[in-house]
Amino acid sequence: MAVGLLKDGINEVIATTASNAAPIGIHLRDGGYRAVLFLGSHTRQNVERDGWLVANIIHDPVIYVRTAFSDLPADAFVREDIGGMEMYRLEGAEAWAGFSARIRRRTTGSVVAELTLLEEFTADPQVLPVNRGFNSIIDATVHATRYRLFHDPGLTDLIEYHAGIVRKCGGVRELEALDLLMSYLS
Ligand SMILES: Cc1cc2nc3c(=O)[nH]c(=O)nc-3n(C[C@H](O)[C@H](O)[C@H](O)COP(=O)(O)O)c2cc1C
Repeated sequence: MAVGLLKDGINEVIATTASNAAPIGIHLRDGGYRAVLFLGSHTRQNVERDGWLVANIIHDPVIYVRTAFSDLPADAFVREDIGGMEMYRLEGAEAWAGFSARIRRRTTGSVVAELTLLEEFTADPQVLPVNRGFNSIIDATVHATRYRLFHDPGLTDLIEYHAGIVRKCGGVRELEALDLLMSYLS
């Protein structure tokens, strides 16, 4: 099993590709890394064109919501030279891992990219207590990005459920992230 920054299972990171950032799940199974990228995303376009992706670990819930629905300014990205490639990570990332990427499989709606870990770095090894409000921002944002695509009314119930947990358990930053999320949905 691979020992590194990312853990077995699906790691919900902020993926940077070119000058784009978006929440993406990086799968780690049996020592192999991969990402399933929806065809309509800039992340998929950039990975297919440039062959790299950086997984950024960051615990700011506002960044998850913002990058799911809009863009970050140019000064939010920091250049790193990794494996002979010019890659960009997030300014303020607590840790990051740079991968080369190859498209291995295509379906009607997505591609599967196989990722090869080239370099990783931990800038800020903090201990983070579990906060259900933070976790629910992540879940609500996943549902919200799907709602934007499919308009399934069942998803709004799920978003409201998670919004309730954010209101009960979240801190100031989670509440700010929730307001931002709701503004994208209205
Ligand atoms: C926690 C989380 C995980 C996500 N995982 C993925 C994923 O694995 N693959 C994907 O294509 N989109 C995923 N999304 C949705 C994308 O972030 C969303 O479609 C985003 O708008 C894509 O931005 P882009 O066009 O800048 O790449 C996820 C969203 C969230 C909130």
